[in-house]
Formats: sequence, structure tokens, C-alpha cells
Amino acid sequence: MDKQKVLVLDFGGQYNQLIARRVRECNVYCEVKPYDTPLEEIRAYDPIGIIFTGGPSSVYEAGSPHADKGVFSLGVPILGICYGCQLMAQELGGLVTAAQDDSAREFGKTQTFFETDCRLFRGLPEESVTWMSHGDYMARVPEGFRLTARSAACPNVAICDEEKGFYGVQFHPEVNHTRYGREMLRNFLYEICHAAGDWTMAEYKQQAIDSIRAKVGSGKVLLGLSGGVDSSVAAALLAEAVGKQLTCVFVDHGLMRLNEGDEVEAAFARWDINFVRVDASERFLEKLAGVTEPERKRKIIGEEFIRVFEAEARKIGTVDYLGQGTIYPDVIESGKGDAAVIKSHHNVGGLPKNVDFKEIIEPLRMLFKDEVRQLGRELGLPEYLITRQPFPGPGLGIRIIGEVTREKLAILRKADFIFREEIAKAGLQGSMSQYFAALTNMRSVGVMGDMRTYDYAIALRSVLTDDFMTADWVRIPYEVLDVVSRRIVNEVQGVNRILYDVTSKPPATVEYE
Ligand code: XMP
Repeated sequence: MDKQKVLVLDFGGQYNQLIARRVRECNVYCEVKPYDTPLEEIRAYDPIGIIFTGGPSSVYEAGSPHADKGVFSLGVPILGICYGCQLMAQELGGLVTAAQDDSAREFGKTQTFFETDCRLFRGLPEESVTWMSHGDYMARVPEGFRLTARSAACPNVAICDEEKGFYGVQFHPEVNHTRYGREMLRNFLYEICHAAGDWTMAEYKQQAIDSIRAKVGSGKVLLGLSGGVDSSVAAALLAEAVGKQLTCVFVDHGLMRLNEGDEVEAAFARWDINFVRVDASERFLEKLAGVTEPERKRKIIGEEFIRVFEAEARKIGTVDYLGQGTIYPDVIESGKGDAAVIKSHHNVGGLPKNVDFKEIIEPLRMLFKDEVRQLGRELGLPEYLITRQPFPGPGLGIRIIGEVTREKLAILRKADFIFREEIAKAGLQGSMSQYFAALTNMRSVGVMGDMRTYDYAIALRSVLTDDFMTADWVRIPYEVLDVVSRRIVNEVQGVNRILYDVTSKPPATVEYE
């Protein structure tokens, strides 16, 4: 690849991929590598700039992570962030100590004053808020360096040796709380590393395609496609890369929303790939008959999915590679480094255990959700696939409380469709992360056309969340709820009552089971 690259050396901080992502946002290609990457590898990588990340250690502690000192002799500009700044200071002859009194430790938003003649802060206000998170202090800066930012508690917030191209900041420019953090990173890239801005998502796409082709050669790839954003984008990318060598298996477990199976199939019909839709609804429903316990339902669905996937894999014959739509937040959650072989991998709900794959291909593994969406657009995926709300693997199976039956599935599909249709009509999708109907197993008395009814209650749920770990319920306007309620009761037989769920997570969860 002849594109310019920035190397992020990872010292174990929380925001390391966020730094990489900010660099990519500035149209410069960027990768994160471990702090102990050998000097020769760094040299061969030929970065236009290097960023040292933050990290939990203190540089003066025995065993704290250090990069090869030769990195300072490569003639490449370096930006040290937090721990990375302290490391730079110490390695180049400064002194870093634990903050002597608590007032020099800084955490959170901090009013900071900048010397704007430093290229890192060029064009920015002389005073703004930064996000600090450090307990160490640069007691003495290295020779040749000058101080370029201070706060009330700390005179040594930023340092630089402009001649050598070395810059260090105690705060985190990559997080949103640092008001001009993006601009500072942009200055590092453009004013200091002289980036050309030659990287775009189109480039990423091409690069990913090239590396998939190089890896796969003439081998076969299998991908479990759910129709969710990540697996859809992974499928489109792999399809562009290896065409017919890819087989996408979409397991329709009969627990999909209204028209969902057809929509997923239609979306992929225009790609020249092997798309297998397995209608497995019979076997799923058979296995679920009479089962009411939520965890048991989940286990049955999960296991059945594996069985179906296995059967399809066997039909295809020898498959060398398993494609996965793993994205960066999944990697964080796993707490693991690079996973190359299938056995050490955990991130898939339904993986066959007895099918041997040579390797896993995870082309989205470095991307954040919105970057995945951007890539999806680049690949020409339809907008509705790209902006879809998450849909759980067990599908409507965990939105029907109690036993799952065809009758209940039919009721829920219609009710859920109406809810989604009205949310779309009201233009409210953007204000909610996930919204759906669930079928309670409660029946109650109603009156319709002077007749007594004894029918199901539908629960409507809409939540807003960043990470789905916590969520708030959405204040949907009463008028919209009113239309949804009247339409469902009128149009869906078997329902006579609509409830709106006003519980956050915690204490509730997003799904009902
Ligand atoms: P809960 O109900 O745990 O849901 O608050 C949080 C998010 O996870 C989704 N979810 C699942 N997704 N397989 C999935 O792929 C599952 O088994 C599953 N269970 C919950 C849920 O839809 C929400 O977005």
C-alpha cells in the first residue's frame, strides 16, 4: 500500500482505537500496534507520524511498558498522549514522578491554557477545556523541550520539541470532552506530519478487498448472514472481494419480523454471490413447542442454529475460511488481542464446532459501528440495511413471553410492523436506538362491538442508548402511541390491549426474555 500511514503504539489505554478512528476521520490511514513492536517493523511500516497512547501504568514503575528507544531516532514526528507523553519525557531525559500533592493529579474536564504558537495548537483558542486522567507529573521536561500548555493545578500540561517533531499532551485529545481535541490531532497530522489526506472509506474498501483476495486465493469462504448491519456489510465486502467463492448462509428460524426473510434475500439477490436461505422454521418451532422458560428457549434456539449452519457447511464441502462481521466494540468486549484460529474465538453465537476452518476473516474488526455503516454505503448496500436497528439472534422468540406458537408469532409480527410503520411515519427513528412490540402472555377482558373479548396484551418498547448496557425509555408523543394503539387493536385479531413500557435498563433489560 502506498498510502500514508500513521502508527498508534498501544500502551494499554482505554481510548486507543478511538485515537485510530480520529486519525481516520482526518483522512489519514492509521493502525494500532503493540508498544513493543520491533523497531525494524516500525521502520518498515514507514509511518508519517507515530502516536503513543495513554495507559494505566506509571513510567517510573519497574515493568512499565516502554517502546524501543530507537523510535525517537527515526526522524518521524511523535505525539505522546498521557502515559505516552510521560514516557516521551522520561526517555528523553526529563523526570516523571507521582503527583506530589493531590492538586496536581487531574481527572476530568480541566480548563487549560495554550501557547498557540506551538504547531499542535495553531489556530485554536488560547483557553479551552481538556479531558485529563493522570496521577503523574512531569517534574522536569527534557532538554530542548518547552512547555506549551498549563492548567491551574499543573504547569506542565503539554510539551514540545518542534525541531525534532516531538509533542506530548497530558490530556486526551481523542475524547469528545476535549473541546478542540480533534483539531489538535488534525494539526499533528497536517501541520506536523504533513499528511496529504489521501485516505477515505473508499480506500479502506479497496484495501480490505485486496487483502481478502491475497489471503483467500482460490479458497472458499462461508459467512453466516443475519441481515443485521455488521454481517450485511461483511457479506457485501467479501462478495466484492471473492465473488462466487463466498457462500452466505441466512438461517431463517421462523422468528423473524414481518417480511424480514424476503427483505434480506432481496437485498442480497443483486450481488453475484451464493446466497443460501435456509427455511428452518419447522424445526425451530417443533423444538420450541411447549417450552416456556426463557433461558431454555434461548438455548434451544442457539443450538438449533448451530445444527442448521453445520448442515449447510457440510453441503458446501471444504470451506477454508469463515467470514465474520466482528466489529471493534465486539473485540473490546472480548478483551482479547488478535484471534486467528476458530477455536480461540468466542464472538459468534452459532458456530459449528466440528467443521474445520483454516482461518477466520474479520474485515470489520478495526471499525466502529458508524464506520461500518459508512463502508456499507461505499459498497452500495441499501440504506435500510445500513441503518437498521439491532435485532437479537433469537428474534421474536424472546419477544413472546412464554411458549412460542405460530398463532402468537403471527399476532406479534403484525403488531410490531404497525408500530415500526407509525414510528417511521412520525419520523421518530432517529430518536430511538431500538423499538419493537412484544407479546405478553397476559390475556385480559375487553369490549369490542358490544361484545366481550378476552385477548392478548401487546407491550410496546422503545429505548435510547449508546451501548445497550444501560438504556432509557423513550418519551414517544402520546399522539403517536394513540395511533399505534388504535391501529393494532383494530387490525390485529387477538389483541385488545396495548401497554407502553416505561422502564429503563437497569432495572429492566431491553428484551423481555
Ligand atoms: P438486553 O435485553 O440484554 O439487550 O438488555 C441488549 C441488546 O442486546 C440485544 N440482544 C441480543 N442480541 N443475541 C443477539 O444477537 C441475543 O441473544 C440477544 N439478546 C439481547 C438486544 O436486542 C439489545 O439490543
